[in-house]
Amino acid sequence: MTVITKKVPTHASKTVKDAIGTRRSMRAFLPTPISKEVIIEILDVAQRAPSGTNSQPWFTYVLAGEAKEALTVDILKAFDDGGSRYKSEIPIYPKAFFEPYLGRRRKVGWDLYGLLGIEKGDKAKMHLQHGRNFKFFDAPIGLMFSMHRNMPHSNILDIGMYLQNIMLMARAKGLHTCPQVAFTQYHEIIRKHLSMGEEEIVLCGMTLGYAAPDAIENTMVTVRDSVEDEVKFIGF
Ligand SMILES: Cc1cc2nc3c(=O)[nH]c(=O)nc-3n(C[C@H](O)[C@H](O)[C@H](O)COP(=O)(O)O)c2cc1C
Repeated sequence: MTVITKKVPTHASKTVKDAIGTRRSMRAFLPTPISKEVIIEILDVAQRAPSGTNSQPWFTYVLAGEAKEALTVDILKAFDDGGSRYKSEIPIYPKAFFEPYLGRRRKVGWDLYGLLGIEKGDKAKMHLQHGRNFKFFDAPIGLMFSMHRNMPHSNILDIGMYLQNIMLMARAKGLHTCPQVAFTQYHEIIRKHLSMGEEEIVLCGMTLGYAAPDAIENTMVTVRDSVEDEVKFIGF
């Protein structure tokens, strides 16, 4: 199957449809800084996300500069040591992958590695590429999201909506993102760096910045099932 690629959209979205249509997970960013005011504006709008009983269960940490760099250094150290003693507190994969999820996972992985010229079995290059997660793909801003561990799992839905709001608002500012569950494996390190209480559970990280327009990995457009294949219309 061929990889679909498209020019990196760098404009600021003016419609919701465009923001959704041009959002994609970017994995290479320019160092161009983002002002705290812009980040506050994005997060302020994102706060309008719905949540069960208006619980607003998200906790958000915004990292820049030396604080972001220090977290990167410590996580990369653990990652390069094998990372085996670090485990996510939430399951991020099924116990065993099965179709259609196995095929979809393989496709996105091999498409990305293919674009980057990383061959199957080249573990060293795959390790380096996965490690770029922990550098927030060189973006100036890293976000971390958590929730209180006593809140029910259904609240993760609310947090997903909040994250999507952030990603769409980023597009309205000409910015791009990459949501990153990869960070959850290193929650102990994150907890220390962010002075996060034990009652919080790390759910996701996110990169925020200006996408590098010439980076090949940013041109990848992932495929989706069609509405006809995926949706069951009943009573029509
Ligand atoms: C909750 C969540 C966690 C993700 N974690 C990672 C991650 O750790 N690293 C990464 O490179 N991409 C991550 N992704 C990006 C997915 O691979 C991507 O959304 C998917 O392949 C669809 O591509 P698109 O976002 O470009 O449309 C994550 C996406 C979501 C929604």
